[in-house]
Amino acid sequence: MTDQSPPFLSIGEPDLTETEIDAVIAILKKGWLTRGEECQRFEKDFCEKVQASHALAVSSCTAALHLALLIHNVGPGDEVILPSLTFASTGHTIVHCGATPVFAEIDPRTYCVDPAHVESLINPKTKAIVAVHYAGHPVDLGSLRRIANEHDLVLIEDAAHALGASFDGEPIGSGKSVACFSFYTNKNITTAEGGMLTVPTEDLLARAERLSLHGLDRDAWKRFADGKKWRYSIEEIGYKYNANDLLAALGRAQLSRLDEMQAKRRRVWDGYVDRLNGDERFILPPEEGRIEHARHLFVIRLTEESGIARDDLIDHLRAQRIGATVHYDPLHLHPAYRDRFGTTEGMLPVTEGVAKNILSVPIHPKMSEEDVERVVGALKDFS
Ligand SMILES: Cc1ncc(COP(=O)(O)O)c(C=O)c1O
Repeated sequence: MTDQSPPFLSIGEPDLTETEIDAVIAILKKGWLTRGEECQRFEKDFCEKVQASHALAVSSCTAALHLALLIHNVGPGDEVILPSLTFASTGHTIVHCGATPVFAEIDPRTYCVDPAHVESLINPKTKAIVAVHYAGHPVDLGSLRRIANEHDLVLIEDAAHALGASFDGEPIGSGKSVACFSFYTNKNITTAEGGMLTVPTEDLLARAERLSLHGLDRDAWKRFADGKKWRYSIEEIGYKYNANDLLAALGRAQLSRLDEMQAKRRRVWDGYVDRLNGDERFILPPEEGRIEHARHLFVIRLTEESGIARDDLIDHLRAQRIGATVHYDPLHLHPAYRDRFGTTEGMLPVTEGVAKNILSVPIHPKMSEEDVERVVGALKDFS
């Protein structure tokens, strides 16, 4: 008997071609594997793509977030405002610095942090705001920049989902910003694990680079390039967050295909919108003229009137071999945050209300029309 069940459709998958394979093999043949010239080329290409002035390739977006806080001297006694509808890293890196995370509400339409609520939480201890471009929908950068300027705060963008997005025509990660990108395996480009930090000044870049490699003044490539001089100086207690040339080769190849992969994501996205629009049980992701969405996640919200239990719908999709999941159970409701910071259910009614009713369905460049049909069919036939 043959297995007639359709292949499992995962929520996100990398799109890898001969371009990526050739690029990685070329580095293997060359033999310099750790941070070297290829990382520098990746940083240059990335800057061109998002119109950034300075970029540092690192081992993950988590590393980039941690470095972004450290280069602004966020530490014990400081408060940092962030949304709760996010991944562990956004909060954990604040805690790693010894600072206190303060959770702000989200906008119930975009699921990005609500600038008015952010402003209401500011007090003399507030040092920074970490804003998440949720699912690839840019935050309201205009309002958040105004608030940060008026209160002399640092604005850090968690752009893990946002490569390819723009706000008022300005690519996320461009010159004015401190932004942190992820190249984890399901992201809009992948290096398996990896990330990029973009910063507006040379000084911030130099500090981030130093902290990303144990606080050394020169990495191995610079020492090698300088006639193999072995000496280095440890300027401060840093971390091991550097990228490497293998990762960078994969990243450059993926970046060269970003527009093509974004176009494929858009086809999947439009397929969902065309087929699900008008079904009153579902609220679809918002999109308006001012923003370009990165289309990293396709998040559907169930209306209260639908009467659908979100978890039952996820089980139904999974039974049909369709990956569906939730981004995210709010951070403030997890034991690690409740226990340490005394956060409680009920403190963020908008976030909690949204989080209960959302689910993410598959979106990635390798999905076909039939895949989209399958997901839509499974959503529609749930009762
Ligand atoms: C919103 C957000 N921030 C940060 C991260 C961390 O990214 P990384 O796995 O590259 O450290 C993720 C990972 O998925 C994320 O979704």
